[in-house]
Amino acid sequence: DGQMDKLEQLRAECLGCQKCGLCETRNHVVFGVGNPDAEVLFIGEGPGEQEDLKGEPFVGRAGKLLDDMLSIIYLDRSRIYIANMVKCRPPGNRDPLNTEQAACADWLRRQIEIINPKIIVCLGRIAAMAFIKPDFKITKEHGQFFTDEAGRSVMALYHPAALLRDPRRRPETFEDLKRLEAEIRSRCTHTY
Ligand code: URA
Repeated sequence: DGQMDKLEQLRAECLGCQKCGLCETRNHVVFGVGNPDAEVLFIGEGPGEQEDLKGEPFVGRAGKLLDDMLSIIYLDRSRIYIANMVKCRPPGNRDPLNTEQAACADWLRRQIEIINPKIIVCLGRIAAMAFIKPDFKITKEHGQFFTDEAGRSVMALYHPAALLRDPRRRPETFEDLKRLEAEIRSRCTHTY
């Protein structure tokens, strides 16, 4: 359909991106994966080593955990869309510079415009600060729903990599996933 074509056109454009220095060291642009018509969009920070090698988001250990988290609420990659704030891996997994984030932001903005999701799930604090509010506190505000300027429901989960480091946060994340499941039931029309 139209969304798929537009998203594939955008991907083709993005694959040649030279807007910042990360294009010099990347193996692959990690554009995004999933259903172009998804009602739920997950946003991570940026590709790591495995993602850079494969050109796909969340394929390492954190990605396996993300798949497990999705399956708890009967979701998988074919029903949602997953993208990162930054499309290319910062060398050595350093945090992306503000200049790199700014150079990359338009790609995700255009993905959101095309997909037009009803719900956005921020994976971790960095995405939550960009898509919910600059002073977002992940320990206090994970699992809470906010409404953005476009009327979308936006929430943050602990980043799966953070859950691997600190498994004590998993019970809270289970509760957050159940809240997400309820929000999907009330806001989404596709059959999940
Ligand atoms: N962490 C992220 O934020 N994104 C990925 O794609 C992989 C790990």
